[in-house]
Amino acid sequence: MTIPRHLAVIMDGNGRWAARRRRPRIIGHRAGARAVNLCIDFCLERGIAALTLFAFSSENWGRPEEEVGALMKLFLNALEREVVELHRRGVRVRFIGERGRFGAQIRERMQAAEAQTAGNTRLALNIAASYGGRQDIAAAARSLAHDVAEGRIQPDDIDEALFASRVALADLPPPDLFIRTGGDTRISNFLLWQLAYTELWFTDTLWPELDAATLSLALDDFARRERRFGLTGDQVADLETSA
Ligand code: IPE
Ligand code: IPE
Ligand code: MG
Repeated sequence: MTIPRHLAVIMDGNGRWAARRRRPRIIGHRAGARAVNLCIDFCLERGIAALTLFAFSSENWGRPEEEVGALMKLFLNALEREVVELHRRGVRVRFIGERGRFGAQIRERMQAAEAQTAGNTRLALNIAASYGGRQDIAAAARSLAHDVAEGRIQPDDIDEALFASRVALADLPPPDLFIRTGGDTRISNFLLWQLAYTELWFTDTLWPELDAATLSLALDDFARRERRFGLTGDQVADLETSA
């Protein structure tokens, strides 16, 4: 069975999970934190090499102050509690997104988590926090523009490969499989550049209710798909036999 090398996940539905229980949204976020561990365990068990989780979008800063504040507390707690265990299990943790928008404590914890786990190789875990796909692409364009302005490259040097080297997660293969929980079928400004040829999979399951069976369904579905990358089915079959 073909296993995705890189899995990207939009963890959605925490608020609705809480609303169904007539509880405040933050209770849903807390319940969602458990599902994060489940998802990481699943990747470790199945030998998935990289996992990118959308934890907080650029746009999520616009939520009510109370919810944003509670999420920041939750985030800080998770950084304090989980990193030791992640390190023990051989997980390398990295963060993508506009880090400068977080408070000093969170930024320090992010930095410490990255430094502590930098040598781990079992699973590359990327947390997208204050992340937006458009902002990622804009930052790449900006860095290339600086290189041109300072004479390090010429405008005509800019091609897909060079551009790809400036967006987030440039050192990883792009996601093979994308999963979104919570029932909505949209990308919501997640990895726009990186998802160009990713297989998309959606489930109505709310993030706090995620279980290994649901993730298995996604993997089974992925394994059955023919990824053609613009070629014909026959060409793909030929490439597979020659590989
Ligand atoms: C995802 O759950 C978590 C974050 C965006 C931080 P939501 O909070 O978006 O949950 P719903 O979509 O309102 O149910
Ligand atoms: C996407 O979920 C972002 C995260 C899960 C972190 P949203 O709940 O913010 O997305 P929309 O608003 O439904 O598009
Ligand atoms: Mg949502």
